[in-house]
Amino acid sequence: MALALPTLNLIGAGRVGQTLARLWTRKGVLQVQDVLTRSTSSARAALDVIAPGAANARAVAHKADMRPADIWLLAVPDAQIAACAQELATHARQCGGAPALAFHCSGAQSAALLRPLRDLGWSVASAHPVLSFADAQTAVAQFAGTPCAMEGDSAACDTLCPLFTAIGGACFAVRSQDKVLYHAAAVLATNFAPVLQALAEEAWRATGVPDAAVLHLRERLLRHVVDNIVALGPQQALTGPAARGDHLAIARQADVVAQWDPQAAAAYRALSTLALRIAGQAPEPPQA
Ligand SMILES: NC(=O)c1ccc[n+]([C@@H]2O[C@H](COP(=O)([O-])OP(=O)(O)OC[C@H]3O[C@@H](n4cnc5c(N)ncnc54)[C@H](OP(=O)(O)O)[C@@H]3O)[C@@H](O)[C@H]2O)c1
Repeated sequence: MALALPTLNLIGAGRVGQTLARLWTRKGVLQVQDVLTRSTSSARAALDVIAPGAANARAVAHKADMRPADIWLLAVPDAQIAACAQELATHARQCGGAPALAFHCSGAQSAALLRPLRDLGWSVASAHPVLSFADAQTAVAQFAGTPCAMEGDSAACDTLCPLFTAIGGACFAVRSQDKVLYHAAAVLATNFAPVLQALAEEAWRATGVPDAAVLHLRERLLRHVVDNIVALGPQQALTGPAARGDHLAIARQADVVAQWDPQAAAAYRALSTLALRIAGQAPEPPQA
């Protein structure tokens, strides 16, 4: 006789909840059971994506309607996680039953948000898949190979890591006290590239570079810098005045940028200081 799969309840079933639950269902490692969102219609629509026609799965309207499950994924927006954990703990206390495992997928928040459940003896974790989830269908197709940052109780991480690995996730551990810095690093690695690109394009246009040339510059420079960083690492890929230790060029350019846009100049100066550090150059020009 086939063994029953562990059950998964979902609170929140948007891009991340649908993607993970769909992948686990398709892989046959978890059985999706109850799905709660802000409206039963969106929970039903989510179930159609996750496990269409699954006999044991259902959309519910309230936490009180949710059956006990082995694993609970709180895939709600970050600002809702603590309140959901508190409400779930109240529900669990009223129902009794064995402690389960609960986790959320926030990159910036730790498993400490799930403390009301941990206080009931549940094991808790956060599991941050480092992927931009555009929509569930796209993310299901893109998920294989996604790095997944695991943080929380060892019991929870020991259960979740094989589940993420089963759907192609590449798990690594982050200490609870490092979660904020870990996420700030992800912001540094991804979010500022578009900001710098936008600034560069504004400046090119301000100097009269035609639109078609701006697009060409965008494509050529970005592709080459990504290729070089991947092939050589960031330090070796660094070029420009800071890499050469050319303090005079940095100062002249910063002054011109300041006349064009003072905020951009502050960024230019701060990033040049960091670039000098990364390049192993002196932070100040040599004294005459
Ligand atoms: N999006 C990403 O690229 C990404 C990447 C990594 C990690 N994450 C993390 O994944 C988590 C979920 O993000 P997401 O992008 O999947 O969010 P989302 O697409 O906005 O979906 C949020 C879901 O939560 C439901 N919801 C909101 N408040 C609720 C409440 N009080 N009770 C029950 N359900 C509630 C929504 O219900 P309705 O469907 O009715 O609106 C929706 O189903 C967050 O912690 C986020 O930081 C996101």
